[in-house]
Amino acid sequence: MGSGLILGIESSCDETAAAVVERGTLTRSSIVASQIATHAPYGGVVPELASREHLRNIVPITRAALEQAGCGLGDLDAVAVTHGPGLAGALLVGITYAKGLAFAQGIPLIAVNHLEGHIHAVLLAAGQQGPGTREQDELPMPALALVVSGGHTHLFLARPPVAGVEIGAWQYTLIGRTLDDAAGEAFDKVAKLLGLGYPGGPWIDYLAQFGDPKAVPFGFAQIKDKAHLQGNGQIARTKGARTAPIADLDRHFLFSFSGIKTAVLRYVEVHGMRAVCEARQRALAAMAHPTWQDAQALCDRQTLDLIASFQHAVVGDLLRKTFAAAEAVGAASVLVTGGVAANRELRVRFTAEAAERGLPVAFPTLALSTDNAAMIAAAAWPRFLGREFAGLGLEADPRLTLA
Ligand code: KG4
Ligand code: ZN
Repeated sequence: MGSGLILGIESSCDETAAAVVERGTLTRSSIVASQIATHAPYGGVVPELASREHLRNIVPITRAALEQAGCGLGDLDAVAVTHGPGLAGALLVGITYAKGLAFAQGIPLIAVNHLEGHIHAVLLAAGQQGPGTREQDELPMPALALVVSGGHTHLFLARPPVAGVEIGAWQYTLIGRTLDDAAGEAFDKVAKLLGLGYPGGPWIDYLAQFGDPKAVPFGFAQIKDKAHLQGNGQIARTKGARTAPIADLDRHFLFSFSGIKTAVLRYVEVHGMRAVCEARQRALAAMAHPTWQDAQALCDRQTLDLIASFQHAVVGDLLRKTFAAAEAVGAASVLVTGGVAANRELRVRFTAEAAERGLPVAFPTLALSTDNAAMIAAAAWPRFLGREFAGLGLEADPRLTLA
C-alpha cells in the first residue's frame, strides 16, 4: 500500500464529482460540477440530460481533482465509485470511467453505496483536522444516521468495525424511511409551487427566516398501519432509491412527505395565491441571476409565513422521529447528512434537542452535505482496508439499498 490515496467518483444524480482522500480522513481535493443550470428550466433532474452532462464533465473533473491533490494516476491506491442508488444512465458514466481507470492502473476498484457515502461525509468532516483529532473517534458509536436529501429520507443505525477484532466495511441497520417523497423532494416541489428557484431547499431555507413558523399549523399524521400501504413483507412500491423492505420497521420511524406538499398546494388554492406564485416564477425567470433577496422582495407576508411554517413542520417531523429512533435503538450519537442537512433551522433545532438529551450530534460541512466525491472516497477506506474490492463486472444498481 502506498500513502492510502483513494480517488472517489460520484455521478449518481445531477452532480459530477471527483475527489482524492488520503486514508479516509484527509481531503486532498474535492471537485463538484453541478448541473443545476441544466435542470433548472425543467424544475427537476432530467435523466437524459444528466447522463450527457456527466459524460461531458467526468474527465476534466477527475483531472482537476488529481491536479488539486498534487498527484498523478500512478500515485493512487484505489478508485472508488458510487454504484447506486441513483439514475441508471448517470451511475453508468461514473462506473464505466472508474473501471477503466482501475484497470489501466492495475489498482482495486471499490463500489460504494451513495447513502453510505453521505454517512461518511459526517465522519470525514470531523476528521479533516488531522490524525488524533477525528471526531469519529470521539463520537460514541453506534450512531443513528438520518440521511435526508432530494432522493432519500432514511434512518440507519451505523456501527464501525470493532477495533482490533474486525476489519472492513461499517454495518448498517435500516431503522426507518419515507413511504413516498423524500424530504428534499418536498422542499423542491413546494418551492416550485410557490414560483421560487431550483433546487428549492436553499430558497426556502433563506426565506423561512422572515416568516412566522407558527402561522400555518401543518401537522403530520402518525403512520398507523403500514400493512395496507405496502402489503406485509412486500417491497414498497415507491420510486428508485426509496425501495427497501418496510415490513420489519417500527411505524413510528416511517416518514411521509407527500401530504404536506398537498397541504401547501391546498393552502395556496384556498387563499387565492396561485396567480401571485405564477407571477413570481415569471419575474425570477426573467432575471439573469435571481438571488434569494430578489425572491424575498417578491414574497408578501402570507407567503413568507407559509414558507416558514412548511419548513418548521418538516424539520419538526424529522427531529421527533430521529431522536425517538435514537432512543429506541440505544444510539450513542446522531449524525445528520444529505442535502437537507444544510438547512439552518434543522441544524439549530437538532443541536438544541441533542444538547437537551445529552446526545452528541454531528453534521457535515455545508460543502459535504450535498453530493460530492470526497464522501465516496472516505466511505471506501474501510473497504480498502478489508480488501472488499469490486470486480470489473460491476454494474449500476439504481435501487441499491443499504443494510
Ligand atoms: O444530497 P443532495 O445534493 O442530492 C441527493 O442525493 O438528493 O441533496 C439535494 C437536496 C435537494 O432536494 C435540495 O433542495 C435539498 O437537498 N437542500 C436543502 C438545502 N440545501 C439543499 N433543503 C433544505 N435546506 C437547505 N439549505
Ligand atoms: Zn445524495
